[in-house]
Amino acid sequence: MRIAVNGSRLYYVDVGARSKPAVVLIHGFPLSSEMWGKQIQALKSSFRVIAFDLRGQGKSEAGDGQFTLEFLVDDLIAVLDHLRVECAILCGLSMGGYVALRAIERNTDRVAGLILCDTKSEADTDEGKLARASTIKTIKAKGVKTFATGFLTNAFAATSISDTKLVNATTRIICKNKPLGLSGTLLALAARTDTTSFLPKIRVPTLIIVGEHDKITPADFSTKMHAAIQGSEMRIIGRAGHLSNIENPDEFNEILFAFLHEKTGV
Ligand code: MLT
Repeated sequence: MRIAVNGSRLYYVDVGARSKPAVVLIHGFPLSSEMWGKQIQALKSSFRVIAFDLRGQGKSEAGDGQFTLEFLVDDLIAVLDHLRVECAILCGLSMGGYVALRAIERNTDRVAGLILCDTKSEADTDEGKLARASTIKTIKAKGVKTFATGFLTNAFAATSISDTKLVNATTRIICKNKPLGLSGTLLALAARTDTTSFLPKIRVPTLIIVGEHDKITPADFSTKMHAAIQGSEMRIIGRAGHLSNIENPDEFNEILFAFLHEKTGV
């Protein structure tokens, strides 16, 4: 299914009963909604599950390639409006977490709960911005495949890197993305705001998840969010790096389900 928002056609999936609480899955960079395959399968019999491709990634168009994180939040709200979902639980991994945090800051009444996975509230440091600049150069000069290999080497835990099937499946998802969309997303990430000051104002049930070997957003970031968000819960996923839902889906799903069941009564 596709909808047009701010000059781009966006791809989304909407499965499960409309009468059930809505859970929106927001993917990380440089992936797409495909990364949530195992969560969609597990959740769809109990919840309404919506997953969409952020502009410039997966099957969503990049438009002219110039956008900001604010566009990504607009995309989320437009998907909710289009599907007539007033309020949803947002589950975002890494970049998806940045989008979820900015969405609750901007549109507080549209968010019923938060699941923040392998993410942080801080904006990029200068060092982080320079790393983005260098990644854009790599993508333009060497292509998406070379970039994907470097990204996964850093993102995955050692046990995941030695799992050839998992590496190949994840590389395939990344390689469906085009340089224009990935470069545009990197610029949007570099220019995003810091949502840390909003954390104490969050009043919805919040679960924070992080892979024990996450090197991109290490557990310290999660611990700080956990301390700042009143009543939040935090869980560390074993045998996982930055892409915890892909690397250890069984433990991830168990924790996700326990939280969703407890908070929604479903
Ligand atoms: C992600 O997984 O979404 C990215 O690693 C986030 C980032 O680069 O800040």
